[in-house]
Amino acid sequence: MRYGNFDDARKEYVITTPKTPYPWINYLGSDRFFGLISHQGGGYCFYRDARLRRLLRFRYNNVPTDTGGRYFYVREADGTVWNPTFAPVKTELDSFECRHGLGYTRITGKRRGLSVELLAFVPNGHDAEIHQLTLKNEGTAPREVKLFSLLEFCLWNAWDDQTNFQRNLNTGEVEVLGSTIYHKHEYRERRNHFAFYHVNQPVAGFDTDRESFFGLYNGFHDPDVVTSGKSKNSVASGWSPIASFGLDVKLAPGEEKKIVFVLGYVENPKEEKWEKPGVINKKRAEGLIEAFSKPEQVTAALEKLKAGWEGLLSTYRVSSGDEKLDRMVNVWNPYQCMVTFNMSRSASYFESGIGRGMGFRDSNQDLLGFVHLVPERARERIIDIASTQFPDGSAYHQYQPLTKRGNHEAGSGFNDDPLWLILGTAAYIKETGDAAILDESVPFNNDENNKAPLFEHLKRSFYHVTENLGPHGLPLIGRADWNDCLNLNCFSETPDEPYQTTENKKGRTAESIFIAGMFVAIGPEYATIAEKRGLADEAKKARELVKKMSETVLTHGWDGDWYLRAYDFFGNKVGSKECEDGQIFIEPQGYCSMAGIGLESGHVKKALDSVKARLDTKYGIVLQQPAYKTYHLELGEISSYPPGYKENAGIFCHNNPWVIIAETMIGRGDQAFDYYKKIAPAYLEEISDVHRTEPYVYSQMIAGRDAVRHGEAKNSWLTGTAAWNFVAVSQYLLGVKPEWDGLSVKPVIGKEIGEFSLERRCRGATYKIRVKNQGRGGKVALKVNGKPIEGHLVPYAPSGSTVEVDCEA
Ligand code: BGC
Ligand code: NOJ
Repeated sequence: MRYGNFDDARKEYVITTPKTPYPWINYLGSDRFFGLISHQGGGYCFYRDARLRRLLRFRYNNVPTDTGGRYFYVREADGTVWNPTFAPVKTELDSFECRHGLGYTRITGKRRGLSVELLAFVPNGHDAEIHQLTLKNEGTAPREVKLFSLLEFCLWNAWDDQTNFQRNLNTGEVEVLGSTIYHKHEYRERRNHFAFYHVNQPVAGFDTDRESFFGLYNGFHDPDVVTSGKSKNSVASGWSPIASFGLDVKLAPGEEKKIVFVLGYVENPKEEKWEKPGVINKKRAEGLIEAFSKPEQVTAALEKLKAGWEGLLSTYRVSSGDEKLDRMVNVWNPYQCMVTFNMSRSASYFESGIGRGMGFRDSNQDLLGFVHLVPERARERIIDIASTQFPDGSAYHQYQPLTKRGNHEAGSGFNDDPLWLILGTAAYIKETGDAAILDESVPFNNDENNKAPLFEHLKRSFYHVTENLGPHGLPLIGRADWNDCLNLNCFSETPDEPYQTTENKKGRTAESIFIAGMFVAIGPEYATIAEKRGLADEAKKARELVKKMSETVLTHGWDGDWYLRAYDFFGNKVGSKECEDGQIFIEPQGYCSMAGIGLESGHVKKALDSVKARLDTKYGIVLQQPAYKTYHLELGEISSYPPGYKENAGIFCHNNPWVIIAETMIGRGDQAFDYYKKIAPAYLEEISDVHRTEPYVYSQMIAGRDAVRHGEAKNSWLTGTAAWNFVAVSQYLLGVKPEWDGLSVKPVIGKEIGEFSLERRCRGATYKIRVKNQGRGGKVALKVNGKPIEGHLVPYAPSGSTVEVDCEA
């Protein structure tokens, strides 16, 4: 069942009922000021840090689930109250539509011939959300309604806001001046920032005290002020400051009016905080208000925003004849990659914005999905990440976005982390050609007195693996590898002990075949980088170590029909036929196959066949089988989940693309594309009632076949899934991939997609690629500007040039 449709021309998803199976959200902002907005207007916004600078209050896991946001109440002359966003009053509307676009959302509700549209976005270069209301009288009689807006302020620090009531019910303060409400919680002391809410019209009244607006025992659906039809002009003193304006709106038949609300964030220099004692300096706020006081300014800012996205998304464009594939590749997958880049794992409807910092492994992998869109920012990100690495090559598992410092709570010891830095850096250099990044002097652990060129960081990453091998010569897993829940040294019997950071066993025995696979797949990138720097001996040494690891995997990491997952603390196998549960895991099948371990000897094919036979389901490939039925002390969190959920045999969408890529590498395009379609959200639109999360973005996990709710997704938006699926579809299925010495053109997508054309910008040149695809499994014949070439590498062309490529595949 569908709840809307894609509008491909406008790059929007159009939701046609407020009753979607879960709140379907969008993100506003792309620089410093960000908002989350659901199809019912719910959500919140923040300046740079979702925990420390949150402007609007949002109650996670609430009843109903999506409560609090940007609300507008329409009160008709007969006392009926409704919202264009349907929520929170939920009066039935004659029509409802929510259009989530790239960086903006339009929600329109109509009732009895009155149409009210909310347009919300963050204009480029401004720290504000614009909420423009368009009211149109589509009837034949004049209409007079009262309009009440409502926002609830968060007291900046979202954690404190939800926990420290003994203090924070005393500290809220506001100022009201005409049509502007200023929220100045803690501005009297250490904060130099405030928020304001403005409307570009004279108001009939306002409210800033929550209890006055609602009445103590009322909810969002029946606030006193709206029911009675009259603002109380309340001025908050402590408790919970809100911002509400009351407006009287008259509309002649056919008349349309636009009203612009601005929710802004302002920082003042310390010495310019006050206009006079107790009165905040509003100069900067007035500038922002001025910039959006007219609807034409709003339109111009929206056009600018759209043009920005057009520019970005034109970097990679396909026209394949499959509209679902096109909309994933051209719009929604890269859009999600950008959002994931901006947010990391901080703020979504599943991530509370007060939790984790930026992950070392997550950020490196996220980069794979946006490096072609914003290479300068990828460069900066790489340096930030590398600055949190320790001198021995290990890394802080997370760092804080505001301070860019490593997070002590999470600590280090996730032994896959260092290798991802090599992968991210290699992807950046291949995309841009900017090998100079390797000479950037980058600190270890942010210590300015201990710096080394980025290349040295990569070297230490590489050797961190070989210097930390276990009894079988395989990499030690540490606290966990990519699978955060495979905690082989944790042995936790105490509730509340964090699985990720507890190590009750100290030992150097638990080994990861997954990290071995990563080493064999990513190690050669390090060798190539060394070679290109003239370090032939180093490159040779690295290649030998990679070869040795590959052999070790075949000796100690092969279970007969697939790659093993790990050896536990006691040296027992994990992911083997010998195990009762957890006999086969997806991660090593994906990574060891991508690495080509035993490619010639048929191991890869065998492993991938085992994936198909044992892990494939109608909704995607599950993480392992059989699911763990009981808690295993020696395995950790993975066995804590009920069967079918999360790492315990859920469909982890992040690693499905590893199998997809591996399938393309052995030329099985049909199988690869089939796996792709099983989890790509646009293909799941028809089963939205089962899948439940947004049909335009990936979710981290879909419940596996052991779960009661098989096929149901959770944790949409912020997941490495976005980047890896973009890599799989753009570089392997469609087959256009920047390599060290040219743009590789080698589609392996099977027979379903026949002819297709693709435009790819890379290093300033534009490649126009036409593919005649007969599903030849990676065997290609290329013509560059009409002339046949050998192999699949199109030489990089000078910036500004256009290259015509014809490909038979
Ligand atoms: C989740 C993982 C996550 C980890 C760290 C676990 O509960 O299952 O997916 O990476 O927590 O936050
Ligand atoms: C989510 C984490 O962000 C990611 O780093 C990890 O690899 C996956 N969970 C799998 O456990």
